Amino acid sequence: MDSQGSSEKRFQAEEIERRESYAAPAGFGQKAKRHCSRFWWLHLIIFCVIFLIVALLLVYVGMPKIAQNGVDKSTIEITQLKFLEPTSESVVLSQAVILHSPSIFTPTLDPFTAASWLVTNGTFNPTPMLMIPMPQIHALHPQSNISVSNLNLTITNLDQVTDYATALITQEEVSTALTGKTKLHEGKLPVVNINFNSTSTYKGMNGLKGFNVTGVIINSTATPGEPNLKGFAYIPNPSVITVALGNVTLTMSTAKGVVGNATINDMTLVPGNNTLPMSGIIDQTLIAASLNSSGFVTLSIAGQSAIYNGQHLTYYEKPLMTNVLSLDMNVLQVLADSTAAANKTSS
Ligand SMILES: *[C@@H]1O[C@H](CO)[C@@H](O)[C@H](O)[C@H]1NC(C)=O
Ligand SMILES: *[C@@H]1O[C@H](CO)[C@@H](O)[C@H](O)[C@H]1NC(C)=O
Ligand SMILES: *[C@@H]1O[C@H](CO)[C@@H](O)[C@H](O)[C@H]1NC(C)=O
Ligand SMILES: *[C@@H]1O[C@H](CO)[C@@H](O)[C@H](O)[C@H]1NC(C)=O
Ligand SMILES: *[C@@H]1O[C@H](CO)[C@@H](O)[C@H](O)[C@H]1NC(C)=O
Ligand SMILES: *[C@@H]1O[C@H](CO)[C@@H](O)[C@H](O)[C@H]1NC(C)=O
Ligand SMILES: *[C@@H]1O[C@H](CO)[C@@H](O)[C@H](O)[C@H]1NC(C)=O
Ligand SMILES: *[C@@H]1O[C@H](CO)[C@@H](O)[C@H](O)[C@H]1NC(C)=O
Ligand SMILES: *[C@@H]1O[C@H](CO)[C@@H](O)[C@H](O)[C@H]1NC(C)=O
Ligand SMILES: *[C@@H]1O[C@H](CO)[C@@H](O)[C@H](O)[C@H]1NC(C)=O
Ligand SMILES: *[C@@H]1O[C@H](CO)[C@@H](O)[C@H](O)[C@H]1NC(C)=O
Repeated sequence: MDSQGSSEKRFQAEEIERRESYAAPAGFGQKAKRHCSRFWWLHLIIFCVIFLIVALLLVYVGMPKIAQNGVDKSTIEITQLKFLEPTSESVVLSQAVILHSPSIFTPTLDPFTAASWLVTNGTFNPTPMLMIPMPQIHALHPQSNISVSNLNLTITNLDQVTDYATALITQEEVSTALTGKTKLHEGKLPVVNINFNSTSTYKGMNGLKGFNVTGVIINSTATPGEPNLKGFAYIPNPSVITVALGNVTLTMSTAKGVVGNATINDMTLVPGNNTLPMSGIIDQTLIAASLNSSGFVTLSIAGQSAIYNGQHLTYYEKPLMTNVLSLDMNVLQVLADSTAAANKTSS
């Protein structure tokens, strides 16, 4: 009896235990609540530590990546580019660009010296052509204007500058890149080291296509050795580039060989249409022998020299020599115009 009662009690106890274990979720919740209220400080510390680790990771690992990414995604659009006051080993650069920055951040980049590279068919040339001191850049979203003016740059590599001038004068489009290392500041965040590497593609002068001459007058009574030809060279420049080439002499040839030359003094090409006075000496006998039956002559015009303050600018001379222009000149018309001009001056 006694043993039976105790076994019944044990059974009831087991039953209660089982029920309690079925009701475990409520019990666990209560336990957790109790645990939390007792160890709330531990949880707070753990939360703070995790928060701190995430924040530090973001600031010291994520932020530099985000900053570099923002710099990599930004692009430079060249709106003005001027190469003035050249010497055989230097050129004065002025440049205005729009920096397009898709990043929502508006960081500041420290001034740095950028290497300027010619990019041919998407590939960097082996060495930079110029080193360009870049100003401090405050990159706004979505874009900001940056300009440098009157930087007297020493030509770092003459071959590269010659290749660049060739690309600029002969090609429809030119690509150049600026590279360098600098520091980026964004508010109170730590300073980030940045690799700057930005390629821009812009219009070149497209072989000076559309070149023409207007108002050409031949003075058949000019003393030998003196200019007997004058007129205007018409040169369209589809690019945003201004370039001072100095006193440029061009050689004119026909199937009979060299028939003369023409010089454009202070030849500075600006964006748009350029009409520049020229004068030259032509061999009228050779021209007469080169005429076709309609009184036209086809002239091949190639650069011979580009001289600025007495110095040969070989980096412009080479492209001007290779960029041969072809011009059909109506010599009968020129002669008629010349007679009319002579009549006007004599009357
Ligand atoms: C670049 O590509 C063009 C056409 O795709 C080609 O005519 C030219 O020779 C190439 N230039 C170089 C340097 O490879
Ligand atoms: C940026 O330059 C462009 C010309 O390229 C000019 O029209 C514009 O007003 C300039 N913007 C600022 C904010 O200076
Ligand atoms: C630019 O610097 C060179 C020396 O590197 C000098 O010969 C030239 O006269 C300077 N140009 C100007 C416009 O000052
Ligand atoms: C710049 O990036 C191009 C690829 O886009 C790479 O070929 C070139 O070597 C890089 N130049 C520098 C100086 O980092
Ligand atoms: C060059 O100009 C003359 C007028 O001076 C014009 O008759 C001729 O069509 C022009 N040639 C070209 C290729 O534009
Ligand atoms: C042609 O040349 C002669 C001799 O140099 C000069 O006297 C005359 O004024 C010139 N005529 C024109 C129209 O330039
Ligand atoms: C142009 O040609 C004439 C005659 O051939 C020559 O005397 C003169 O030196 C040449 N001018 C230039 C700048 O080369
Ligand atoms: C340049 O001249 C051409 C005609 O020869 C004309 O169509 C064009 O609008 C001119 N461009 C500028 C910028 O004046
Ligand atoms: C002469 O040359 C001009 C320009 O190249 C051309 O338009 C003309 O048809 C030629 N005349 C003859 C008779 O070949
Ligand atoms: C071009 O030649 C003229 C006359 O010889 C000279 O006065 C001028 O200084 C020269 N221009 C340049 C940029 O050298
Ligand atoms: C120029 O004057 C001469 C006579 O001096 C005349 O024969 C000729 O027709 C005139 N030419 C023009 C285009 O006026």
